[in-house]
Amino acid sequence: MSRRRALASALLTLRNLRMGVPDNPALPASDEGAQNTFAFRTASLRNLTFTAPYSHNGMFRTLVDVVGFYEDTRGGRARNPNVSSEELDPLVRELRDLDADDVDLIEFLRALSDDSFDRTIPERVPSGLPVGGRIQ
Ligand code: HEM
Repeated sequence: MSRRRALASALLTLRNLRMGVPDNPALPASDEGAQNTFAFRTASLRNLTFTAPYSHNGMFRTLVDVVGFYEDTRGGRARNPNVSSEELDPLVRELRDLDADDVDLIEFLRALSDDSFDRTIPERVPSGLPVGGRIQ
């Protein structure tokens, strides 16, 4: 699958997806995701420059780390022991070679940010869940 098609699918999906993101040792417990399936909703890629750390558990500090994760995972090498190779989403398994130093891809991701992004942290959100979750 081409990188463009994979990225477009990831941008448009409303499913929860199993990616095998490693657990963050800084957090007290593994996050088991939607209905304990280790699946997570795709986060918005807009304004990425301002929203590090990345993934549901803040495991990746930089976009280079995120791309490195996809490079490790493509072909079906799950990086979380709770997720088997067969359980990984096929879109991730089928990704083509990504170079973690691929400046074009990182530059594309950075281009999704807008300096006028409102960075005010709300005191509460409609779901009633704690703002910021467990990530400090
Ligand atoms: C070259 C291709 C891809 C790039 C550059 C990319 C980039 C990213 C980035 C930067 C994030 C972090 C967002 C954040 O936390 O703010 C992310 C998360 C995510 N992506 Fe991708 N992505 C790619 C392919 C895919 C594919 C193929 C899938 C579908 C299976 C996918 C599903 C997800 C999911 C579910 C998350 C959230 C993970 C979590 O919170 O633990 N991505 N992606």
